[in-house]
Amino acid sequence: MSNYQYPDTNDELVCKLIDKVEPFKGYWEKSEKKVIDEMRNEILKYMKRFNIEECFLLDAGCGIGRLVGEFQEYFYRIVAIEPDKKRFAETVKNISNTSYSSKVELRNILIQELDNEEKYDVILCSHILQHIQTEELAKVLQKLKAILKPNGLLLITTCHSIEEEDLYIKGYQTKDGFKEQKITKDEFNILVNTLGVLPSHAFSYDSITKLLTDAGMRVNRINMYHIDKGLEFLNPLDMIVENVSNATGLMKKSLGRDMFVVVINQKDK
Ligand SMILES: C[S@@+](CC[C@H](N)C(=O)[O-])C[C@H]1O[C@@H](n2cnc3c(N)ncnc32)[C@H](O)[C@@H]1O
Repeated sequence: MSNYQYPDTNDELVCKLIDKVEPFKGYWEKSEKKVIDEMRNEILKYMKRFNIEECFLLDAGCGIGRLVGEFQEYFYRIVAIEPDKKRFAETVKNISNTSYSSKVELRNILIQELDNEEKYDVILCSHILQHIQTEELAKVLQKLKAILKPNGLLLITTCHSIEEEDLYIKGYQTKDGFKEQKITKDEFNILVNTLGVLPSHAFSYDSITKLLTDAGMRVNRINMYHIDKGLEFLNPLDMIVENVSNATGLMKKSLGRDMFVVVINQKDK
């Protein structure tokens, strides 16, 4: 059992953030759905390449179980972990009445507490890394490397910094509405355990690449999404905005609130 509590109870602040920053109503959801489709393609490509009929999945920080239902059909067994007790209880409720509940094992633990002996084909780490204390990050990535099978697939979504450096941001509600403010790394590390604020660590293209490479994994590709500014002359609802922002390395580095990172666990030499 974990004592961790996710700061944004019931996702209230993230909903306010989306209302404030999405350039068109519905774009955020459409963009997120496109990433889920890309995840599906990556899973199917992996299975085809290694001639696997069904895989073993870990959803590393499943929230209320949003992605388990999306992908359950490709897996013979699924472990989904969620450290926040309230969210965990909701996941148990959400999954227990489904047709696939018997192949899903839910655990109320942190990524850091997973057993190194259990190895997964595919790991989802969706919107998790931005909420982890900076001194824990390397440990978390080493754990993911340790439990991913050789050539296994790690699919990450996380916050993207459009500056050269990583950014630390807090989102909070004031009487005048939702506000975002840059904070220091030290403040971020305190706020990850403070209820009622939404602290996020936004990674630059280079820093996420370095973190994953240092942990012994290979970044296959990074795509930016949730493009909130920089291409206002394009209608984001037709998604051309996402093709344009991913057209060159330079564009990728300077656009998009979030990123989708496809990682392969290269075999140790
Ligand atoms: C924004 S939610 C994302 C939930 C889900 N992956 C999704 O995409 O819908 C972030 C989740 O990360 C979980 N989390 C934070 N730190 C974690 C850790 N060290 N290990 C596992 N989960 C963690 C939180 O409890 C929270 O439910």
